Amino acid sequence: MHSTFCTARAALLNPTFSKLCTLTFTLFTLYFLVGCQDRQAVKRDQYLAEGFGHYQTYCANCHGKDGQGLVGLYPRIDANYLKDKNKLAVWIKFGQNQPVTVEGKTYTRPMPGNAALKELEIAELITYVTNTWGNETTLWPTDSVAAALEAHRRLQQ
Ligand code: HEC
Repeated sequence: MHSTFCTARAALLNPTFSKLCTLTFTLFTLYFLVGCQDRQAVKRDQYLAEGFGHYQTYCANCHGKDGQGLVGLYPRIDANYLKDKNKLAVWIKFGQNQPVTVEGKTYTRPMPGNAALKELEIAELITYVTNTWGNETTLWPTDSVAAALEAHRRLQQ
């Protein structure tokens, strides 16, 4: 018993052993971190793929399949309007009817809402548009959509 303890202690004090321990720990941590990032990246790619489909179904009619808009009638998708994702979530769900100016031109037609879209679908849409035409590189989660819509509902009361 005593000798086992001594051997263990000697092993722990051994510099090569402790270096090996540190190395193993570092490698394990790296492996874990890279694994997490991979999973996030895969999830983001799923959101982008789904979001692309929703965009073509619900937005491309007016804003064009490449976000280029329709001359004089509908604005192209503009990075400035993609910064406030909370507002974007509310626009997508409930529509919007206030003048919007893009590249010096003001658009006044109403944008219809999509009451039936689920929070996940809105999150996918926002991830797609902000990663495609905005400066975003990560996904926007469903929780954030829920929070934005809830805050909007509270304002309406
Ligand atoms: C029936 C046509 C129509 C559809 C469909 C539509 N929009 Fe719009 N959208 C507009 C109009 C008109 C404006 C500008 C005036 C306004 O907001 O009322 C606008 C403005 C915007 C803006 C801000 C200005 C800009 O161009 O960046 C964004 C962002 C936007 N829409 C995103 C979307 C997304 C995402 C969808 C799909 C869920 C969508 N729109 C569907 C007509 C539409």
